Amino acid sequence: MIVPHATDTPAPVRTVRAVRAVRKAVVPAAGLGTRFLPATKATPKEMLPVVDKPAIQYVVEEAAAAGLDDVLMVTGRHKRAIEDHFDHAFELEQTLAAKGDAVRLDAVRDPARLANIHHIRQGEPLGLGHAVLCARRHVGDQPFAVLLGDDLIDPRESLLSTMLDVRDRYAGSLVALMEVPREQIHLYGCAAVEPTEDKGVVRVTGLVEKPSPEAAPSAYAVIGRYVLDPAVFDVLDRTPPGRGGEIQLTDALQDLAAGGTVHGVVFDGLRYDTGDKADYLRTVVRLACDRDDLGPEFIGWLKEFVAGLDGREGSGRDRPAA
Ligand code: UTP
Repeated sequence: MIVPHATDTPAPVRTVRAVRAVRKAVVPAAGLGTRFLPATKATPKEMLPVVDKPAIQYVVEEAAAAGLDDVLMVTGRHKRAIEDHFDHAFELEQTLAAKGDAVRLDAVRDPARLANIHHIRQGEPLGLGHAVLCARRHVGDQPFAVLLGDDLIDPRESLLSTMLDVRDRYAGSLVALMEVPREQIHLYGCAAVEPTEDKGVVRVTGLVEKPSPEAAPSAYAVIGRYVLDPAVFDVLDRTPPGRGGEIQLTDALQDLAAGGTVHGVVFDGLRYDTGDKADYLRTVVRLACDRDDLGPEFIGWLKEFVAGLDGREGSGRDRPAA
């Protein structure tokens, strides 16, 4: 069941252009997050803080900045925290208001004001393809964006807006692609591609989920941004469980790619997989360094800490920087 949340009038988005065909975003966030256990035993990985906001808030901010004012979260077990985060917190708001703490009050209110946010439960984590299929009734017969809830694109990049522009020129579905070292391709869906007349846009001729380096048709990895044609729902409906026993979005897109209706937008900017422990740490450090309020002091500490490591591989915990 879709549970619409009473939200304020959505805050004005930053970069809305002409009215686009794509209005809705779907954010799958129902995975088990096993790579991040035990932190994700009772907390969704999408709620892990990246500096002072949960990862999924960056994702919703990205959707809103691209003009998508209707966001459907696909949540699962222990995902109450996601629903609460994008709702009002009346007691907290009243307390902050009584103290006159306008900055923190805004920080508490912002998530609910980003967009019209809806939630649906994926009863069982049967795979990303199944999570997308859960969005069918809400999305209807329109193209829609999918943003993975633990996959962050640096806020200075404009990948999603670019994809929406490309979707205006190419019918069908779009995936975001990033070139990765061959030895890492087994972590991703991988695309076989052909060039188009558009720089940065390729035709996807095939897709394979997590191939070995030898079997990979290219070094192009599918990352967590998609603009999908509603035709994907019929395909997902008949897609059997694939790799890992899960209904794979990649398998459904492979079906569509065989019909020539999938293109790729090549991205070479900053992207962070916060569901991966090492990448999560890099994300926090990088975004903290970029913050005006934290960066200068934190960078000073970081330089000292790194210098103190003396080229050692260890944690340096026995000799912490001041
Ligand atoms: P991942 O494969 O990264 O998620 O899915 P996971 O299964 O939670 O991660 P690990 O490997 O066990 O650590 C990519 C995205 O798809 C969502 C996840 O929440 C994540 O945002 N997802 C995955 C679902 O919503 N439902 C699923 O059944 C599977």
